[in-house]
Amino acid sequence: MTDAGIGGLLESLLGERAVSTEEYAKRLADFDVGALLDAALDHATPAELTTTCEESYTHANGFEKVSFPPVPGRAERLRLHLWRRAPLQADPHNHRWALTSRVLAGALRSTTFEAGATGTVHRHYRHRPHTPPPGCTFDELGSATLQLASVIDHLAGQTYALPPETVHVAGPAPGRIDPTVTLALELAPVTQDTDVYTPAGAAKPVGTRVMPPCYTPDEVRARLGEVRQLVAVSAFREVMRRAYTAPTFRHHRWYVPYHLELVERLAAELLDHYPGADRAKVSALVWLHDYGKALHNSPSHQVTLSEGALRLREAGLDEPFVADVVAYARMLDRAPELDLSRAPVEVRIASSADGCAHLVGPFFHLYWWENPDRPHDQLMAENLRKLDKDWHRKIVLPEARAAFEGRHRMLREQAGELPERFLT
Ligand SMILES: [Fe+2]
Ligand SMILES: [Fe+2]
Repeated sequence: MTDAGIGGLLESLLGERAVSTEEYAKRLADFDVGALLDAALDHATPAELTTTCEESYTHANGFEKVSFPPVPGRAERLRLHLWRRAPLQADPHNHRWALTSRVLAGALRSTTFEAGATGTVHRHYRHRPHTPPPGCTFDELGSATLQLASVIDHLAGQTYALPPETVHVAGPAPGRIDPTVTLALELAPVTQDTDVYTPAGAAKPVGTRVMPPCYTPDEVRARLGEVRQLVAVSAFREVMRRAYTAPTFRHHRWYVPYHLELVERLAAELLDHYPGADRAKVSALVWLHDYGKALHNSPSHQVTLSEGALRLREAGLDEPFVADVVAYARMLDRAPELDLSRAPVEVRIASSADGCAHLVGPFFHLYWWENPDRPHDQLMAENLRKLDKDWHRKIVLPEARAAFEGRHRMLREQAGELPERFLT
């Protein structure tokens, strides 16, 4: 497929003109994204790269956009959208075209609005492409009241469709480590302009051409490379998710929602404090770190490292990435003897999130539930031992320790370590 080049791949995606957005959505869901990224990164002609740069830029709504070249004779356009974090402000808007979009990594939160008597007052603008392109212009139309209509999270692997008239904002769903990436197929335009709404206090420049600076070829290539890695991490995450939910794993009923997704959420919050950390590696580490346990029903560190490395490579991650993540997982396993406060930041984040995840949700109760035949004093002593390990060996980041001190103290009480007085 790679030999087809970008042009051939885009032509195969568009195919015959379809009658419905759903038909395009099905084609997009079946499309070989890996081949497209390989073609764009490894085989793009200088002309294709130049055309890609012309419409690739950071959008005012907080995402980075890479536009693949148009197919001659066709009005549809294929674009990558990448959100590194939730935008501070995204303006509700509709589109000139119906859209179908496939989530390649992370999770996309789509929020839709409708005009209503109650809601939030916005400034209402008409948005038009500038003639000649590129760029756009805004005209102010007055004010409009928008009320929330729906909030839907689309997960990696899902493809959805959006009619042109739907007023919406899109952004990353909370709680995920990885940036969110979508591959959006815009169908042929059906109107000349769109509506954009800004909250009171914000405003658009009226009557002047707005033209964000386009990416350089290096900036486009860096984003394509990053997306290829994020797609691989997303595939790895799905393989791990299936392993932890396999009925052969004794904790399969609760391990994803009450351990791994909690570790992921905590790591995502900690990453906000450490912007220099490699998010993709933290994400892979979070989903890898208990893999041996899922395969063997007991802590199997060597299996985590050996089988985990195979799964990382199969997902398409390169050797330096695999070597780092496996080395980090080995450090996590050695928490009892290593001083993890001196470990790389990715390890400190994953270790602290892992320890904190035990202090929220039903973790300690599940231990009682899963071991009904053991004497209660043994269960309490074992939970106290786990609390010690989490607090003294795993939770090393100061932000996590400060936020979880109260939870830790309360759980020690529940494990039998009672204070002398309760009221004062
Ligand atoms: Fe949109
Ligand atoms: Fe864990």
